[in-house]
Amino acid sequence: MSNDRANPSRYQAINFNEKLQRIDEQWSPRVVAQMNDYQFKLSRLEGDFIWHSHPETDEAFIVLAGQLRIDFRDGAVTLAAGELYVVPKGVEHKPYAEGEVQLLLIEPCGVRNTGQEGGERSAPNDLWI
Ligand code: NI
Repeated sequence: MSNDRANPSRYQAINFNEKLQRIDEQWSPRVVAQMNDYQFKLSRLEGDFIWHSHPETDEAFIVLAGQLRIDFRDGAVTLAAGELYVVPKGVEHKPYAEGEVQLLLIEPCGVRNTGQEGGERSAPNDLWI
């Protein structure tokens, strides 16, 4: 990657707020960075999502703004800004946000937001911002 060495922008910080302002659509995660085979994705959510699970992987939710509830078949967890929860692989979950939530997701490349459910709420993968 010798070309990268001549590119001063490689020392630029990734600013969550700046990136979030450029996301004009809710429920459509945007990739902001990749570490090995994992991607960091920012998303804006509001309202209800669908029940789904990810049979191949855990999924990390870090709330940056707002309050997110993640429903499970036998309970729920509520995350405020500055809080993290890791949904274990294979566990059915349904995110819900009464007001807008700004969120950082960490998951392996290629994970679909609707998991094994698919359907109309599926967002395109690998959209960088
Ligand atoms: Ni999920």
